[in-house]
Amino acid sequence: MTEYLASLFGLDGQVALVTGGTGVLGGAMARGLARAGARVAIMGRRREQAEAVATEIRGAGGEALALPADVLQKGELEAARDILLRRWGHVDILVNAAGGNMPGATVVGENTIFNLGEDAFRQVFDLNLLGTLLPSQVFGAAMAGLLPDQQGGTARGCIVNISSMAAQRAMTRVVGYAAAKAAVDNFTRWMAVELARTYGGQLRVNAIAPGFFIGEQNRRLLLKEDESLTARGQTVIGHTPAGQFGDPADLVSTLIWLCSPGARFVTGVVVPVDGGFSAFSGV
Ligand SMILES: NC(=O)c1ccc[n+]([C@@H]2O[C@H](COP(=O)([O-])OP(=O)(O)OC[C@H]3O[C@@H](n4cnc5c(N)ncnc54)[C@H](OP(=O)(O)O)[C@@H]3O)[C@@H](O)[C@H]2O)c1
Repeated sequence: MTEYLASLFGLDGQVALVTGGTGVLGGAMARGLARAGARVAIMGRRREQAEAVATEIRGAGGEALALPADVLQKGELEAARDILLRRWGHVDILVNAAGGNMPGATVVGENTIFNLGEDAFRQVFDLNLLGTLLPSQVFGAAMAGLLPDQQGGTARGCIVNISSMAAQRAMTRVVGYAAAKAAVDNFTRWMAVELARTYGGQLRVNAIAPGFFIGEQNRRLLLKEDESLTARGQTVIGHTPAGQFGDPADLVSTLIWLCSPGARFVTGVVVPVDGGFSAFSGV
């Protein structure tokens, strides 16, 4: 049984990079990949936080490397890729979890859809879409075997983008974030087709669309100081048939499946992990 499951889902010997690994969801996914046997690099702009996550993984018996970088700076990504390849020789898994919303791109209070600042809209779009595109270019090129002396010239690897329910259903307020995540869904399908057709079926691209989880950015939107629900938090729970927020660890099994040998024929899909949010009409 164990051997059979390992042949389907084991990640032993695989090398993973998690952007946003310094955050709540990315951190949980990085820990989960490490427990499944992968060597994991943690990326975010906060060096100390990246070191803390890597230290925690190593303390639990895993292999981890802090790899601080800004996902919008291609030079920083390329430097990080060089460090990772020097350390572990190849890269098999890229999780694009860096992202999030920005208050200026949100329709609330004085901000209406008619006076929304284009700079804020552009910033949130850049973080979520370009922040997925640029790491996919930089680390995807290594997976495609396009760098000298890497991967033995074979194209093999798996990219998992982190989307959102806001991509699929109109969600009040978060106009820029929703548009950017919808673009991430489209990019997931586009890139899956491009990589498989041009470089072969062992290069796969999928996405996970989480429902509602308590992260650093959305905590005060969903929970009051005393941890009871805000009005928006109540609306979210009312539209989540499971009746609760997700636990970041709930994303791990879907991520492992998408990265595993058992998913070799799965590419171009966006998998909801949402407690039924996307299935529910609200009635
Ligand atoms: N929480 C939810 O309910 C939920 C639902 C659906 C989708 N998501 C998505 O899940 C992902 C993780 O969200 P989270 O809830 O875990 O939020 P979080 O705790 O705020 O984490 C956000 C992460 O993004 C990183 N990041 C932001 N800008 C960056 C940049 N320019 N370069 C590199 N890293 C950057 C942050 O790292 P540094 O600060 O160290 O740079 C941090 O690790 C995001 O894409 C978010 O949109 C979250």
